[in-house]
Amino acid sequence: MNYLEKRILEDGIVIDEKILKIDSFLNHQIDPKVIKEITSEFFDYFKYRVITKVLTIEASGIAPAIMMAAHLQVPMLFAKKSVPSTLSTDDKYSTLVHSFTKNKTSEVIISKEYLSPDDKVLIIDDFLANGEACLGLVDLVNQAGGEVAGIGICVEKSFQPGRKRLEEAGHDVFSISRIASLEGNKVTFVDE
Ligand code: G4P
Repeated sequence: MNYLEKRILEDGIVIDEKILKIDSFLNHQIDPKVIKEITSEFFDYFKYRVITKVLTIEASGIAPAIMMAAHLQVPMLFAKKSVPSTLSTDDKYSTLVHSFTKNKTSEVIISKEYLSPDDKVLIIDDFLANGEACLGLVDLVNQAGGEVAGIGICVEKSFQPGRKRLEEAGHDVFSISRIASLEGNKVTFVDE
């Protein structure tokens, strides 16, 4: 069992059969030791890939993404969920992301200035559920003509279809913790 999985068991709160709350160390208060342990595993897995940029979506992806970018010594870019007034339509790549958890569809954007056809992009996010956020980020990389080098996830809810959808689209998904079930008010990891 890795450090993130231990912390999920110790400090995670199962809200219902679909939602795990980890606000005490990842989604609200952030424990730097958790981020360090997660990104050292990401680094071991992705270190031989050519990666020019780490991409995530605000807000909770930013902490693991910035530390991973520091390991790789490349810039970190985060997609924004609100469009800055300083950015005109012609200057941004834009996609729609539907959140099943929040039952809301939002426009997500990045400035064209920061992604190019030369970029080999590692996508990092905190949770993988239905895969909507990651598929939106893949779409933004594709619009820029760049290449997705891999996808790193902190907490994958393997009982939801996110991994399958990303793999079917041809992406390599590496998750630090894979949750098989949240049934019975209990976290069960894949392979337990
Ligand atoms: P998807 O992107 O994989 O399709 O997931 P979904 O629409 O279900 O989730 C949207 C938001 O809900 C994301 O946060 C995601 O991180 C979060 N989420 C999904 N499942 C869980 C869960 O079990 N526990 C918690 N705590 N969050 C979950 P977001 O809207 O991007 O918010 P944030 O990054 O600003 O926190």
